[in-house]
Amino acid sequence: MPRMISGKLFFAVVLATSFAAVAQTADQAWLAYRPLSTPHHVPLRVLKLGNSPVENSAAAELTRGLQGIFGSSVRDSKLPRGSIVLGTYEEFRRRFPQWTPTAQVGQQYLSIHDDLSHQVPLEVIRQFTPVAGNFMVFRDAELESESIFIAAPTDRGVLYGAFALLRVLAEGGDLPANGFNESPAMPVRWVDEWDNPDGSIERGYGGRSIFFDGSNVRQDLAPVAEYARLLASIGINGCNVNNVNAAAQLLDSNHIKQLARVADAMRPWGVHLAMSVAIASPQTIGGLSTYDPLDPAVKAWWTAKVNEIYALIPDFAGFTVKADSEGQPGPASYGRTPADAANLLANALEPHGGVVLYRAFVYNHHADWNDPKADRARAAYDIFHPLDGKFAANVIVQTKEGPIDFQAREPVSPLFAGLEQTSQAMELQVTQEYTGQQRHLVYLAPMWKQVLDFDLRADGKATPVKEILAGKSFHRPLGGMIGVAGVGQNGWLGSPLAVANLYAFGRLAWNPELTPEEIAGEWTRQTISSDPEVVATVDKMLMQSWPAYEHYTGPLGTQTLTDITGSHYGPNIESSENNGWGQWHRDDHLGIGMDRSVATGTGYAGQYPPEVAKVYESLETTPDNLLLFFHHVPYTYELHDGKTVIQYIYDSHYQGAAEAAELGTEWAKLKSHIDDKLYEDVRARIEYQAGHAIVWRDSIVQYFLKQSGIPDEQGRAGHYPGRLEAEDARLTGYKIIDITPWEDASAGKAVICGDLPPITFRPGAPNSMPPSAAANPAASETAPHNPCSAEWTYAGPAGRFNIAVQYFDLPGGVAHFTLSINGHPAADWSADATLPSRRPNGDNSTRHTIRDVELKPGDVLSVEGTPDRNDPAALDYIEILPGIAVP
Ligand code: GCU
Repeated sequence: MPRMISGKLFFAVVLATSFAAVAQTADQAWLAYRPLSTPHHVPLRVLKLGNSPVENSAAAELTRGLQGIFGSSVRDSKLPRGSIVLGTYEEFRRRFPQWTPTAQVGQQYLSIHDDLSHQVPLEVIRQFTPVAGNFMVFRDAELESESIFIAAPTDRGVLYGAFALLRVLAEGGDLPANGFNESPAMPVRWVDEWDNPDGSIERGYGGRSIFFDGSNVRQDLAPVAEYARLLASIGINGCNVNNVNAAAQLLDSNHIKQLARVADAMRPWGVHLAMSVAIASPQTIGGLSTYDPLDPAVKAWWTAKVNEIYALIPDFAGFTVKADSEGQPGPASYGRTPADAANLLANALEPHGGVVLYRAFVYNHHADWNDPKADRARAAYDIFHPLDGKFAANVIVQTKEGPIDFQAREPVSPLFAGLEQTSQAMELQVTQEYTGQQRHLVYLAPMWKQVLDFDLRADGKATPVKEILAGKSFHRPLGGMIGVAGVGQNGWLGSPLAVANLYAFGRLAWNPELTPEEIAGEWTRQTISSDPEVVATVDKMLMQSWPAYEHYTGPLGTQTLTDITGSHYGPNIESSENNGWGQWHRDDHLGIGMDRSVATGTGYAGQYPPEVAKVYESLETTPDNLLLFFHHVPYTYELHDGKTVIQYIYDSHYQGAAEAAELGTEWAKLKSHIDDKLYEDVRARIEYQAGHAIVWRDSIVQYFLKQSGIPDEQGRAGHYPGRLEAEDARLTGYKIIDITPWEDASAGKAVICGDLPPITFRPGAPNSMPPSAAANPAASETAPHNPCSAEWTYAGPAGRFNIAVQYFDLPGGVAHFTLSINGHPAADWSADATLPSRRPNGDNSTRHTIRDVELKPGDVLSVEGTPDRNDPAALDYIEILPGIAVP
């Protein structure tokens, strides 16, 4: 007889203590299993009918989760009565001969199997069709009235069923009377990690690799097992562990043995190991004179290599390939096609059930900026569409969601509609490369959801992206979603709220019908608190974060106006122009935007199926938020609501910065409702974000004010009442410099104390330098320097004010600042953040606000900056902001 359970903190404490020794655990993300006081009728015994490692994980997870949530001990059971019973269909049939699975789950398995087995080898089907995830969780009075059953065609489904039940319970819910049956929408649900063997992570912002260090796989793989647990809880079934800019050495025999340890760590959680491979490997590590995909020796080399992998990793998932892209060698070197290269690998993998994820991110990064017809956005479709039907059955073409590169706003890639006879996966970026690098809160689920729901109208029929990926639209056996995750040792993603994106990615790959709001609610309840006020506030913040970021970074589909030849972080508008990388927006003093129409532009709009192409072809029907992606217009062009483009640029940036500030106001409401450490951690991040949103706002607004010469109707652009520039101050020791790009500093100038450090890395090579190297360059220190100061005399009205100090926090040193009023220190702080770029610019421009300061005319305000090694305590301005009036 199941007992009525009430919260018992004792076990939660025991549990927490026993895990305290583990450095990095899944509990730190959403698998917190916090105690709930609500009573539940849930059996506290677990009976597993099988004994596979995955089923053992399911049972252990149930035990752990139930103990955490209900605070009572959970025992193993030998009898079904009063237990949670879990097992595969086969195990259920053996134990309960009268039992048959309900129609839906069983039938789906059969139909997929019958229908598609002629197209794809059985081995591949077994590993990757949705059946590998189906489960049912139910009560059944005929079997045992007081038990809960979790049954699935495979043990992996059993594990997913256990997690699904725990999710409902952890959110304070209960198993619905009819239970639930679930089946993943897409067979391939992988994360890609861009980890390098040295332990750095390309575009990773969560610390160093959990997989590699010092050229080898790490000895301690406990965090990998915990990561696999986290992934399994949201239904992820594959993890590619190394950078798509692949290090060839990982394919040597020594590293394959090491990678087998990684596969072992993930296997109990049903997560298959995959690898990125360099297409030139037969030459670089195989000693062959060629890597021509059609050469028999090359073919034999890959076959032998794949056999070697499967001998050690029998459930290896397959290869991801980046070729002929951003300097990576590829089949083009031999006049061969991506299909030739993909099929070469696919044939070697096929007997083992492996797949090839061939990336459509193939483009010429030496494009001619002066050629009005050149267009990087066209590349994927131009190259891959003609190859439709030429790929082997176990090849999946992996396409980024937009035609450029994970920008804050892009149209959906037209290639999804251009490959009807090819299985397809969509690549998304969980790691926030172009969307604030985890220093900005940007919840990406609303963006992904828009992409998934977008109806491409292929063949004049409803073909939303989610159905193409699920294989439904074009009747494909394989397909799915790939999330470039970038997890590291620092709290997985380096920022607590950023973890919501990893959660959302997995949930959408499992079920793209979920809404971003639902997912946000699930995540918040499991991770932070189920207090309705907390849930409502966090969800509101998450939902407003992407629109806010889009507003303050890049308007009307221009893409993120960031430093594209460097950090991909702060503003640098011209960096995207006049070079071969092709992220152009073509602004001049008259207008802005890329003409991608068929009639007068690059013709990109014509790559969409006719109904969609028609919408984008015309200025009138193109949605405002993509206007400048598809069309070049004068600044005075009127949007659908009659506002001019230039006024929209001004307004949206002021709006975005205000929205970023509002995130802080929202978060402040939670002070007494949540854990103090989490509160303070997120508070500081959001305050930083609000300051950086102002940097973005001012850069873009002052740039386009100068470029267009058209004033802001509201008089804000170029007018900053209360701002006192450092270059106008009485300076002691500080010297004035020009900032590059000029728009990244107020009025283009700042002051530095001492000298700027030498630049030791190569600028202008965005994809050759890991960002970690940019953020932490080898120290080459400037000579020690005395403090410098900047001094102003206050001439405004008397009152209480907030004073913002805008300074540049450079890496490679911790400068120190003191703000004084009439010689009395009012605040001091250290510039100790880790921000990109060794030069003062929009990457590292930072705001420190001192609140509620009393000022009267004639007061002397001064900022003293003490440089440290490579950080010259650079200062842009101070700003006196309205505070509380003196009564
Ligand atoms: C972006 C990113 C690179 C990455 C590339 C890719 O360009 O900046 O670091 O290698 O995408 O997806 O291959």
